[in-house]
Amino acid sequence: MIRLDTLGSEIHVLVQGASRGLGHEFVRQLLHCPDVGRVWAGCRQPDTLALPADTPTGRLHPLRVDVTDEDCVAAAAAEVARGTDTLSLIINVAGVLHTAEGMQPERRLAEVEPAHMLLSYQVNALGPLLVAKHFAALLPRRERAVFASLSARVGSIGDNRLGGWYAYRAAKAAQNMLTRNLSVELPRKHRGVLCIALHPGTVDTDLSAPFQGNVPAARLFSRERAVRQLLEIINGLGPDDQGRFIAWDGQTIPW
Ligand SMILES: NC(=O)c1ccc[n+]([C@@H]2O[C@H](COP(=O)([O-])OP(=O)(O)OC[C@H]3O[C@@H](n4cnc5c(N)ncnc54)[C@H](OP(=O)(O)O)[C@@H]3O)[C@@H](O)[C@H]2O)c1
Repeated sequence: MIRLDTLGSEIHVLVQGASRGLGHEFVRQLLHCPDVGRVWAGCRQPDTLALPADTPTGRLHPLRVDVTDEDCVAAAAAEVARGTDTLSLIINVAGVLHTAEGMQPERRLAEVEPAHMLLSYQVNALGPLLVAKHFAALLPRRERAVFASLSARVGSIGDNRLGGWYAYRAAKAAQNMLTRNLSVELPRKHRGVLCIALHPGTVDTDLSAPFQGNVPAARLFSRERAVRQLLEIINGLGPDDQGRFIAWDGQTIPW
């Protein structure tokens, strides 16, 4: 069973990007975790959020969050603030690599589309930053807390040997920088908060589905395994992890 006991007991949590994939699985596992109180599940269509029948949903609070709309993020923070004055764990999960409207990761320079570059930046990089801007007031002043954002190894500048995927790589690199900035600023007011970027590995979700062909079966994680691994990392964090970019196996990824 997953524990988050290093963060306290009955902790309240926000998962942003909860409708599908990893975010949906975070919500499911957090609702089963005995250390967790309320779980706010941010997604664009909270009315349609559905969890498996055996999920204890009594502490679930679906919340409308579209990270491309700052007013929506601010309204969501105000709604959470009416229900609690403290969030001990904020996990930013929403991300975009391709869309039904034709956005695809670029194989070459000629495929770069300004609108796709901007959408990728808006969701992958600016999204977690707006969540930080509007939800930071709910982080505890002194107690331990975690602000985590799902990044991706392809956002590592130092690790980039293949090229391509301009929009996603650049937006995730920007997200990493913004996470690092937050790791400097947030602890000034919230002494116990750790800000980290997480790489989940390649996980079987809609996002990775078109690109799973060359992934060995042992390296394609189920959502259940990927989220379990990331929650174990979150529960094991210490002061030395402040501002780190951490892979699913605990390794540090170069910026
Ligand atoms: N899967 C992998 O192999 C992998 C690898 C490395 C990193 N990651 C990262 O892990 C995170 C989760 O990925 P995933 O695989 O779970 O992706 P996914 O299954 O495609 O889910 C993406 C999520 O992002 C949400 N989203 C997109 N645009 C949004 C917006 N404007 N406002 C709010 N939510 C929005 C989607 O909501 P809707 O349902 O409303 O569209 C959905 O919940 C992403 O940040 C991704 O970059 C994934």
